Amino acid sequence: MTAEALRLRPTMLSDLDDVIAIENDARNLPFITPWDRTQHEGAVRFPDFRHFIIEAGPGVERAGFVILQGCRNPHRSVELKRIVLQPKGQGLGRLCVRQLKRMAFRDLHAHRFWLDVKGLNTRAQHLYQAEGFVEEGRLRESVRISSDQADGYDSLIVMSLLDREYQARVAMGLELLP
Ligand SMILES: CC(C)(COP(=O)(O)OP(=O)(O)OC[C@H]1O[C@@H](n2cnc3c(N)ncnc32)[C@H](O)[C@@H]1OP(=O)(O)O)[C@@H](O)C(=O)NCCC(=O)NCCS
Repeated sequence: MTAEALRLRPTMLSDLDDVIAIENDARNLPFITPWDRTQHEGAVRFPDFRHFIIEAGPGVERAGFVILQGCRNPHRSVELKRIVLQPKGQGLGRLCVRQLKRMAFRDLHAHRFWLDVKGLNTRAQHLYQAEGFVEEGRLRESVRISSDQADGYDSLIVMSLLDREYQARVAMGLELLP
């Protein structure tokens, strides 16, 4: 698996069994709210969404998936709705987020690229912050958490990057891709 091999390709309906399996993997479930198949089918079909499979080279044809929403938003506010990568902690998430920023600002002409992340998801927060996303605020105790260890609520942290902030990062050489 190499950084150069990381590629996003449009998800096909035939990929959805794998997408749903990745989403429901116990290593990912605490950090996302899984969708049912109909929601994924909608995201594959409706032009306001982009649904991608993350390919990471030979033997890793489906390393994960990504969903963008708001691609036709009249306010040019595009959401990174979901990103899930099975190989974790190897730098693929960073590369993927960089590719998505480029797609959002260069191809979709976003003014604002935003996301929300659970308070407990310190890994993703670290990544987004390091990639220039700024915290806008918190939706307090807006998601239910229930597991063997805990039953309660977590907050969602809303983060965003604006087009001028992205361009400044490009000028500083912070948005390099292999
Ligand atoms: C979040 C996710 C996409 C990140 O992808 P990844 O390939 O694991 O991320 P990377 O390896 O590129 O970067 C992770 C960064 O977090 C850091 N990190 C790892 N665990 C951490 C933790 N518990 N707390 C803080 N930082 C942490 C790493 O050191 C690395 O930062 P660095 O490059 O500055 O050292 C991936 O882990 C994933 O799919 N997680 C489950 C689903 C999920 O959380 N999706 C996002 C929902 S908002």
